[in-house]
Amino acid sequence: MTSPQKGAFITFEGIDGSGKSTQARLLAKSLQDNSQDVILTREPGGSIGAEEIRGLLVEGDPDRWSAHTEILLFNAARRDHWEKTIFPNVNAGKTVISDRFADSTRVYQGVARAELRPLVDQLHDLIIGVEPDLTFIIDMDSHTALTRGLARQSGEDRFEDLGLGFQIELRQGFLDLAKDFPDRCHVIDGARDAETIAKDITAITLDFLR
Ligand code: ADP
Ligand code: TYD
Repeated sequence: MTSPQKGAFITFEGIDGSGKSTQARLLAKSLQDNSQDVILTREPGGSIGAEEIRGLLVEGDPDRWSAHTEILLFNAARRDHWEKTIFPNVNAGKTVISDRFADSTRVYQGVARAELRPLVDQLHDLIIGVEPDLTFIIDMDSHTALTRGLARQSGEDRFEDLGLGFQIELRQGFLDLAKDFPDRCHVIDGARDAETIAKDITAITLDFLR
């Protein structure tokens, strides 16, 4: 994180259904068991205003918004999330764990439409200007992840509804992104049982926090 701060900012990234929320929850619990003050949050959302914007983004027809409009909406939600939740808590010395952050915009809006990645990066630098300290990219087979994601029947499937080809492109996008930010990104094999994955993630995090 490039702004002055005392706590740590950790993000989970990956394709839909890869197990991010599960792992974010398990990491929060194991850090709390280690007597750490932890805030678990998510994107799009994580603050009252950003949760309102979330509904616009994750529900409805895949063609509801153009990529440009989506980028602006995700950044509007992220700015509110940053101001109201992430910054104050990290600044107060807490560990903030977010289920998705700007890397999702880089990959979902930037890679699937490759020519928009520079715009996503420019806007991020202008509006947010901060990167996480540590990012876990949960990697797994796109077909299995999509099946898991759709089985939840959450009603928030606007991006899952773009189909398997889109999820395959996204998987590669996240793997490429890890190479762009090698210092903070850890690619984690998500095709194992949740407890085994969580042990790896906790070990990396405790090592980092030390
Ligand atoms: P994401 O947040 O990446 O969309 P979730 O954590 O919500 O993924 O997991 C998607 C579905 O897969 C949920 O039903 C969850 O219980 C299940 N799941 C999560 N991790 C695993 C795992 N390691 N093995 C099998 N199923 C899992
Ligand atoms: P999420 O609830 O994390 O979905 P899932 O549990 O299926 O992984 O995120 C909602 C959707 O929003 C997801 O399909 C990814 C998409 N998204 C973007 O396209 N760009 C972004 O910047 C973010 C944060 C999410």
